[in-house]
Amino acid sequence: MKIICCNNYAEMSCVGAGMVADVIKNKPDCVLGLATGSTPEGLYAELISMCDKGELDFSAVTTVNLDEYYPISPENEQSYRYFMNTKLFDHVNIDKANTYVPDGSAADAAAEAARYEAFVRGLGGADIQILGIGRNGHIAFNEPAEALHPATHVTALTADTIDANARFFASADEVPTKALTMGMGTILSAKKIIILANGKGKREAVKAMLAGTVSTSCPASFLNLHADVTLICDRDAYEG
Ligand code: PGA
Repeated sequence: MKIICCNNYAEMSCVGAGMVADVIKNKPDCVLGLATGSTPEGLYAELISMCDKGELDFSAVTTVNLDEYYPISPENEQSYRYFMNTKLFDHVNIDKANTYVPDGSAADAAAEAARYEAFVRGLGGADIQILGIGRNGHIAFNEPAEALHPATHVTALTADTIDANARFFASADEVPTKALTMGMGTILSAKKIIILANGKGKREAVKAMLAGTVSTSCPASFLNLHADVTLICDRDAYEG
């Protein structure tokens, strides 16, 4: 894994955005694999700024997101679809019809997971996948477990995650109990992967990812099996 250690969050976001921009410039009809969470917000802001300046053209770009709560309406402000619209899609010249997030309002979650997996595979995987990392080493909703799933699947949120996310909802009862998430194989089908990590809270997870072994106790460690992964982090997340 290549490592780019930046001085701070702003620099990490610029470096990440630069790598995504290079992919779009080299292949205007590329497939971008996108992530939600606080980590990539700065990267998205950089992409918006490049688009504003006329340096970047999203008109032929397709996007696939990693995951979505289930059940949830796309209009719900806590949905990942809403996050992507407000943090990126509404501010660049992308055709929203070419932006894909698992459908949290589908009647049959397992069928939606299978449909989404086939769809992403049909696109040939993402040309570049952006990832964050959880404090426990998760990527998307692939949490540490005895076994990990290769394909897009329905997963139950852990009690910890429900607790952590309750602050965004009116009450803990309103937090969706499940999610639809790409599996490890779906993520690893991307041609290029960048994983962003900032802040001391991510240090242990980054250390486990870089420990030199692959373990289901740190799903991000599976990225070591991929030939083109770059960790873009700040000093708090890497050096301590
Ligand atoms: P964060 O989440 O960007 O909000 O820290 C990252 C993750 O859990 O993958």
